[in-house]
Amino acid sequence: MKLYPQLFIFDLDGVITDTAEQHYIAWKEMAQEIGIEIDRKFNESLKGVSRGDSLEKILNLNKDLHLSEEEKAELMKKKNDAYRKLIMSIEPEDIYPGIGELLEKLKDDDIKIALGSASKNAPFIIKQLQIEHYFDYVVDPETVENGKPAPDIFQKAADELGVAYDKCVGIEDAIAGVTAINEAGMLSIGVGDKIHLKHADYVVEDTAELKFETIINRFENISK
Ligand code: BG6
Ligand code: MG
Repeated sequence: MKLYPQLFIFDLDGVITDTAEQHYIAWKEMAQEIGIEIDRKFNESLKGVSRGDSLEKILNLNKDLHLSEEEKAELMKKKNDAYRKLIMSIEPEDIYPGIGELLEKLKDDDIKIALGSASKNAPFIIKQLQIEHYFDYVVDPETVENGKPAPDIFQKAADELGVAYDKCVGIEDAIAGVTAINEAGMLSIGVGDKIHLKHADYVVEDTAELKFETIINRFENISK
């Protein structure tokens, strides 16, 4: 019998579209306002991480800063306002190469599709990209107890759609995201740097390389 996945769970920012970059720009701007410099290397540790946890990681860079909860909420609002401005004009042309074809192929093969993003802005973005209709389920990150690198977001998608974890494939660009997929007991596919994402079961440098047949072959080999 052929082993076949029943559910693909996509991360959004940095997998379906380039919004990982806009998150970085908005955090960098916000951090500068409180005298903290962040660079791309540090940003790798923010990818996939919730808004609140990301702020804490940034504030940890200056242990002399002691902010109240109100001040933290104000900073998160600032970051999100800046981020929303940057993504306001996002459109279907901004979908990464290969993603549209993969979504189509999954639909043709009756494989379920879920969105497992940590972002509260995800529903807005998939609407702008006009790909909402592909998703059988979109995880609301506010309904899970623990964010990535915990497995909750990925497991929630599988639970809601009634699919066993070992029949799921997760696709991620973040170190924390790949860890979350692995912890969930699913096949992990990393998109990006092979060294950063070396803990993934399979890594492609670019979404254009996310070929359905290759993923299915990986799934069969790893599940054996
Ligand atoms: C993740 C991004 O998808 O969502 C993170 O990789 C971001 O960079 C997180 O912090 C939360 O996003 P938002 O839109 O709810 O602030
Ligand atoms: Mg991401």
